[in-house]
Amino acid sequence: MLICNLNGKIFAISNICSHAEETLDCGRISNGWIACPIHGARFDLATGKAKNPPAKQPIPVYQVRVEDDWIEIAA
Ligand code: FES
Repeated sequence: MLICNLNGKIFAISNICSHAEETLDCGRISNGWIACPIHGARFDLATGKAKNPPAKQPIPVYQVRVEDDWIEIAA
């Protein structure tokens, strides 16, 4: 699992790219997506949907709740 902070909004997604099962944790984050650092597929942080090739399948996303200083994730 990978927890991302995009301008204060927290997302929890799978850390595994659906294309070739490489990790996403060094990927660039911008405009609601994360880019796989290996071949550049981008995934929507909210839905997990693949936004461009070579990935075609989505990645899992997890429900997040922020309470006070705690981040709770439904996994
Ligand atoms: S491993 Fe992520 S796009 Fe290929």
